[in-house]
Amino acid sequence: MTRFAIISDLHSNTEALGAVLSRLDKEGVERVICLGDVIGYGPDPEHCIDLVMRHCDLTICGNHDEALMRGAQDFNPVARQVIDYNRRSLKPSLLAGSLKRTRWKYLENLPLTHREGDYLMVHGSPRDPVHEYIMKTDVIFIPDKIRDIFTQFEGLCFVGHTHFPGVFTEDLQFRDPTQLEGEWEWNGEKAIVNVGSVGQPRDGDPRASCVIVEDGRVRFLRTDYDIGTVQRKIYDDPNIPDLCAARLEIGK
Ligand SMILES: [Fe+2]
Repeated sequence: MTRFAIISDLHSNTEALGAVLSRLDKEGVERVICLGDVIGYGPDPEHCIDLVMRHCDLTICGNHDEALMRGAQDFNPVARQVIDYNRRSLKPSLLAGSLKRTRWKYLENLPLTHREGDYLMVHGSPRDPVHEYIMKTDVIFIPDKIRDIFTQFEGLCFVGHTHFPGVFTEDLQFRDPTQLEGEWEWNGEKAIVNVGSVGQPRDGDPRASCVIVEDGRVRFLRTDYDIGTVQRKIYDDPNIPDLCAARLEIGK
């Protein structure tokens, strides 16, 4: 596994995912790993699942994927509304066709963690793989949380979940891709890399985020996509709150 890409938090945004996959194809990346949250928020859950099944070697379980199966009781009302809607449209009935069953089974069987050599991959955090957020503000306001998380793994850990890309190091530093000038080299000490979100970035940059990893070098990529088309689909769908469209163009 010398060169591969990691994507996360696609959130049913097929325009963003399509743009990222064709960019990775142009970059000559042959292997893509997804850190979860394939569905939720956006207008195209089916197509996103199909793209992930076709293009990703492996997908980890995100909290939205889990909530599809187990319920979204602990979600905010906007996120819950879309997950409940996704469940109504994705869950196969007795007479459902095979594609619908295949999609459901795929999301039902996602692993919670994945270890590959020095690399650990989870959706949220090594301490609580599906649910815990590692926020950049934690290094200042809850340093003991970060210290404890760093005791829970070895090597380099890749996460998504916050939709905010960057690198956490054991000396309680967080650096975003701008501070890193788009690239970071792993020195063998424990670190956590957040790959950002493809389908709903929240770091103020609306372009889709992902990383390419090659021999310990992590390159943060941003890719433009047709945000207007996604927004129109959301505004046209009465089951998805308008807020899910508005936030895409400001990346928040
Ligand atoms: Fe997410």
